[in-house]
Amino acid sequence: MAELFEAINTRAMVREFKDTPLGDEEKQRILQAGIRAPTAGGNEQWLFLCVESAEKREKLLRLLVEAQKAYYTEMLKTPLSKEQMDNWMKSVEKGRYRAPFYVAVFVDLRQRFYTKSDVEELWGQQSAAAAIENMLLAAWGLGISGCWFGVPLLIEKEFYEFFDAKKDEMRLAAVLAFGYPKQMPTPRRRKKGLETVVKSI
Ligand SMILES: Cc1cc2nc3c(=O)[nH]c(=O)nc-3n(C[C@H](O)[C@H](O)[C@H](O)COP(=O)(O)O)c2cc1C
Repeated sequence: MAELFEAINTRAMVREFKDTPLGDEEKQRILQAGIRAPTAGGNEQWLFLCVESAEKREKLLRLLVEAQKAYYTEMLKTPLSKEQMDNWMKSVEKGRYRAPFYVAVFVDLRQRFYTKSDVEELWGQQSAAAAIENMLLAAWGLGISGCWFGVPLLIEKEFYEFFDAKKDEMRLAAVLAFGYPKQMPTPRRRKKGLETVVKSI
């Protein structure tokens, strides 16, 4: 159990990975951890699309960069400055976000279980988020790091086309990148402590 807390407390998002491919067993263990997550109603409305071929990974990488750019320039209330964007582009050229293994997490709505579709979709998203964190922690336990990308939702049409998915059947929750870290990450400090975010009533 001490190891569980060690993993929770040391995990950090990593965006620069070694080229070293992940082994099949490692991938299976990460995905298996995904389906061990809690799932609303026990419905398991998730689907994991693994992107492994060099060609597909390259295309996905380009889309992720485009989506991340949309985040920095259109989504943020205070967009990045030109200098910050230039530095970010340089890091992209050096291989930022390039990973040996990507997993797209979808909410699979082809089978529905409830009378209220908005609640069903929200629960599906929450279950997907639980699966994502399980996968990131499981990977970390294997010495593999990852990054959770929400930015695909900013240019989702391109991603649905890439994954050949229909939005009324499958909802993209996130794309995950996995690989061995180029550098060991330092856990990021939290801005808000428990005294701020916890209240007793
Ligand atoms: C819902 C969600 C979406 C995220 N989307 C992105 C993303 O698109 N790109 C990215 O670089 N990081 C993304 N992150 C990672 C966060 O930036 C990161 O978790 C946060 O800065 C705290 O860092 P830590 O996880 O290393 O502690 C996302 C995290 C979450 C939970």
